[in-house]
Amino acid sequence: MNLVDAFNRKIQNVRISIQDKCDLRCVYCMPENGVKWLDKKEQLTFSEIFKLIEVFNDLDVKKIKLTGGEPLLRKDVIELIKKITIDLPKIELSMTTNGVLLSKYGKQLFNAGLRRVNISLDTLNHDKFEEITRKNKLNQVLEGIKCAIEVGLEVKINAVSIKNFNDDKKSLNEFINFSERNNIPIRFIELMPFTGNKWNFDNYVSSEELRETIKSSNKLIPLKIADKSSTAKYWGTEKNKATVGFISSVSESFCENCNRIRVTAEGKLRPCLHRHLEYDLRPYLNGQKRFENISKFIQMAINEKWKEHPNFLALRYKPPIDDREMIRIGG
Ligand code: 5AD
Ligand code: SF4
Repeated sequence: MNLVDAFNRKIQNVRISIQDKCDLRCVYCMPENGVKWLDKKEQLTFSEIFKLIEVFNDLDVKKIKLTGGEPLLRKDVIELIKKITIDLPKIELSMTTNGVLLSKYGKQLFNAGLRRVNISLDTLNHDKFEEITRKNKLNQVLEGIKCAIEVGLEVKINAVSIKNFNDDKKSLNEFINFSERNNIPIRFIELMPFTGNKWNFDNYVSSEELRETIKSSNKLIPLKIADKSSTAKYWGTEKNKATVGFISSVSESFCENCNRIRVTAEGKLRPCLHRHLEYDLRPYLNGQKRFENISKFIQMAINEKWKEHPNFLALRYKPPIDDREMIRIGG
């Protein structure tokens, strides 16, 4: 059996939050006064997470991404990766991390079998880093990126674009130079509205605007799309020295080719990132409900995927106020 939604989209990509906590406090991800962390016992256990990934593997899910919060704050993350890569070798496993702990764990992650990491980094400027993450840890992240590359992980950098913060020519060029120097793609993500993140037209900047700014000092050559479900579209700079991706979640939403679902750190399946609708998988994993029924339950949840999310740029659109904050959904 495989998972297909009501609009004939095959679900092959699952993002699982394995840790709700984070050692940064990004302003677009969590509100200033924080969020309520889960108790340890509310988080899925090692064996529950593994069981769940096994189920998805049986349901023909191809890609699993471990996210958070910050996944590296979970003590058993290395063991978990080892078990997934050894027992479920068909799964393409990757991780999203803020990079702070990567210099500590990079080698172990690689040795455990992980091959790909997406590292979030919104600016290369120390003061701005502190402004956006509310922590002074840029050096650790830069060390982390260096280490990840050195140990042989495939690295992508993700930067959330924010108007009048990192959308100017200088900031964009710094990223492009960084990408060229390190030979890793940089991807700019449009800022999305979530509960508690103060999204509005004044802090949103479109990919198209970024490309125009970049083009004032660089050549941008569109690259072929390799994977139609990829959320990013790529351009190369001259001589393809840098690969620049744009994830235009707001201006060009990619619902049509969506192949993904999410699971929160306490085991709630979210059919759609922007829809406040969740299905609790934990009872099936901890024996309260019959484990044999979990696949049917997951398929039922997937039937609830939206055709598309609301147009965030519509005049009457109002950002959510009572859904989860992004940090509690999973990045
Ligand atoms: N808009 C776009 N991306 C976001 N992320 C978190 N919050 C937002 C938002 N409001 C992304 C971060 C990070 C990942 C964990 O989620 O860029 O890469
Ligand atoms: Fe995918 Fe989000 Fe669209 Fe749902 S709303 S189909 S998760 S892109």
